[in-house]
Amino acid sequence: MDRPLYEKIADQIAHQVHEGIFLPGSKIPSVRKSSKQMEVSVATILQAYSLLEDRGVIKARPQKGYFVQEHQPQKIEPAKIAPAENDGNTHALLKRLLRPSQNDKLIQFDATVPASQFLPIRQLQRSVGRLMRLAPEICTAYEFTPGSLNLRRQIAIRMLDTGCQLQPDDITITLGCQNALMLSLQAVANAGDTIAIESPTYHGILQAIEVLNLKAIEVPCLSEGGIDLDLLDKAAMEWDIKACIVTPNNQNPTGASLSSPSRKRLIELSKQHNLTLIEDDVYGELSYLGKRERALKADDTNDSIIYCSSFSKSIAPGFRIGWVIGGHFQQRIEHHAYVQSLATPTLTQTAIANFLENGAYDRHLRKTRMTYQENLSRCQSLILEHFPVGTQVSSPKGGFLLWVTLPDSVNTMQLHEKALENGIGILPGLAFSLTSQFSHHFRLNYALSWDNKTDAALRRLGQLCHQ
Ligand SMILES: Cc1ncc(COP(=O)(O)O)c(C=O)c1O
Repeated sequence: MDRPLYEKIADQIAHQVHEGIFLPGSKIPSVRKSSKQMEVSVATILQAYSLLEDRGVIKARPQKGYFVQEHQPQKIEPAKIAPAENDGNTHALLKRLLRPSQNDKLIQFDATVPASQFLPIRQLQRSVGRLMRLAPEICTAYEFTPGSLNLRRQIAIRMLDTGCQLQPDDITITLGCQNALMLSLQAVANAGDTIAIESPTYHGILQAIEVLNLKAIEVPCLSEGGIDLDLLDKAAMEWDIKACIVTPNNQNPTGASLSSPSRKRLIELSKQHNLTLIEDDVYGELSYLGKRERALKADDTNDSIIYCSSFSKSIAPGFRIGWVIGGHFQQRIEHHAYVQSLATPTLTQTAIANFLENGAYDRHLRKTRMTYQENLSRCQSLILEHFPVGTQVSSPKGGFLLWVTLPDSVNTMQLHEKALENGIGILPGLAFSLTSQFSHHFRLNYALSWDNKTDAALRRLGQLCHQ
């Protein structure tokens, strides 16, 4: 499928920015001027500029025009596009790397959860206390799969913001998003099958692939635009790919989001190559744009996209409440869920349903998203000031994870060890791929209580890169 003209124009301008033709902070030609120069319509240029804004390359300033962003999104090097047999070591490496993230004596840049001050702990505490006093039977009854009807109703209401029109019966409650992803993979693939994943990707996906004896094709995820669709298309022509797991919003670890045209194209590709999309939307509620992006699932005309999410990143990771919308795989997913865990946690489901019902969730989200955005710009500036020349940082438009690319000479496994000795946790790039291509990258969580100590830790980390 030939790419639309505006996408080609956007790529051409992004290339000019990367080549330094347009410098960070400088103005690019107006829409009208570009339209004349390139002999295309004003509407096409507007579409190209809007795509470049989505990718974090340029920014519109009202009445002033379009400017190149100060912090340019980084380009992630292509991974080898071929199914990788899992060597069975992923879990061991990850266990070792993730252990420090539970040590609250460290500055936890390595955690994948926000600091407790960003979670509605007090409201949940009150709710759980009240439930235990007034309805103790909640602890003695099984809430069989698919889970609490009231919670599924609340989820169906919230999913309207993503463009999905659902019935509670379309939804199965799971033990977090990890469980939802596992169940989805089990429903669509058998041992030996090949799954396309973003590269770098969330390490839990690598572990699920390992334990299910699947093969992974790592498709580069560009921090300015998400999964590289041209390469996905190429890979799907060459290999028999059963499913593709994507995180369209604020991907872990790059923070990348897919633009609307890319979402459409991804759905087209999935139909064309008959591969099931597994949509992981665990960071979807944390968009700084203030409104939910449309889910892939909302444009699923043949009911074949599986949507997974949870409340772990915005309400309570320890409650382990997630959900899956399985489309025509729903029955298989529910069957697996039932056999694996029989029932779902009653107390935490009810507490979350009550929290969603009383309207406090949106207020809570507005506050946290604002703080994350403030932390992000502080973090980006500190890194660019104190880290080696050539360091690049991503520009997420939501979530709380930053992807840092250091010069090739810095090995982030070694940096991780040195950082631990200095009381600082970071997650090295090796945790996010089956290959060693991200050996000079690391991921940083900025949903921390930010103070002088955090600033000092980042400065120290910058010094450690030089040692
Ligand atoms: C992209 C992504 N998907 C899924 C999960 C798992 O979420 P949960 O804690 O709800 O199982 C995580 C957690 O870090 C994640 O980053």
